[in-house]
Amino acid sequence: MTKIRAAITSVHGWVPPYILTNEELATMVETSDEWIMTRTGIKERHILKGEGLGTSDMGAEAVKGLLAKTGTSPDEIELLICATVTPDMMFPATANIISHKTGILKAFSFDMNAACSGLLYAIVTASKYIETGTFKKVIVVGTDKMSSITDYSNRDTCVLFGDAAGALLLEPTTEPFGIMDSLLLSNGSGMPYLHMKAGGSVKPPSLETIAAKEHFIYQEGQAVFKFAVTKMADVSAEIMERNNLKADDVAWLVPHQANLRIIDATARRMGVGKEKVMINIDRYGNTTGATIPLCLWEWEGKMKKGDNIILAAFGGGFTWGSIWVKWAYDS
Ligand code: UT7
Repeated sequence: MTKIRAAITSVHGWVPPYILTNEELATMVETSDEWIMTRTGIKERHILKGEGLGTSDMGAEAVKGLLAKTGTSPDEIELLICATVTPDMMFPATANIISHKTGILKAFSFDMNAACSGLLYAIVTASKYIETGTFKKVIVVGTDKMSSITDYSNRDTCVLFGDAAGALLLEPTTEPFGIMDSLLLSNGSGMPYLHMKAGGSVKPPSLETIAAKEHFIYQEGQAVFKFAVTKMADVSAEIMERNNLKADDVAWLVPHQANLRIIDATARRMGVGKEKVMINIDRYGNTTGATIPLCLWEWEGKMKKGDNIILAAFGGGFTWGSIWVKWAYDS
């Protein structure tokens, strides 16, 4: 029987217009452009402003753009998965809200929370529905309004994050392109180092939790850095080894954009030159679920059919993973 693979057949991104620069941050907390650039590689990030606007609004913009550029009717979509850590609300799923806002009415949809690795988890999950012949058109959208859980009086975290959305269309192919292999992992012992303390069932919101600023990101940066730098590199090297891919065979590395030093370490470990690494952290910061699709969107014109692409991520949980994609089209 001919093997069906899931191919990424289009990608679209959306970023809010407001740009928060390092210079503006330096007026809010004790920091500097020099510190932020040296430690993270971030120059500026986009922030969603406007009453009543949330993660689904950005996701819906990315999905609308994706449908328009591919000439796809919302009725053709059979499944939409949203990777996010900043859902519009605890329930219903942001994926349901995005589907409603984009007219996707003949699909089921759900959220996937794997922090910064969410997009990879969602791609692999979506690919299974396609590989089994169940569905022909699936959308994966990574969208996060990180500014909604960022404490702008805490310099440890407020310089890191930005808001954005990116969406991918996955379709079946019988050609040797698409999602070729994946390796996803998680280890919940990482929870203490990166989480939001209150607002969930363990610590529901109260006046005390608000006063203690427990509805913001809590991160022990150095501990997370140590895990991220080894795990993202390990998993990327392993996916290359087990598929017999040499550095020369890899056209692009698409790493989650959390810190330029983590990205550099991953590329070094893989032996992949910097010219092959998609990096836009300088302009967007860490947009969690959106970093990888934003890269693919910006580099879409440069990727060629047959390119070997390694997607890699590390995030809260801890979660991490890597996917080998053979790019399926010339744009
Ligand atoms: O995407 C999810 C996964 N997350 C990650 O992968 C993030 C991993 N961690 C990191 O990227 C880095 O740990 C950070 C960028 C968060 C921090 O960089 P670092 O090199 O680990 O700095 P540090 O936390 O060790 O702080 C060094 C110093 C401290 O001062 P002292 O104690 O040495 O006097 C901090 O207080 O830098 C200080 N500092 C700042 N200074 C100016 C911390 N934040 C700032 C700031 N501006 N924004």
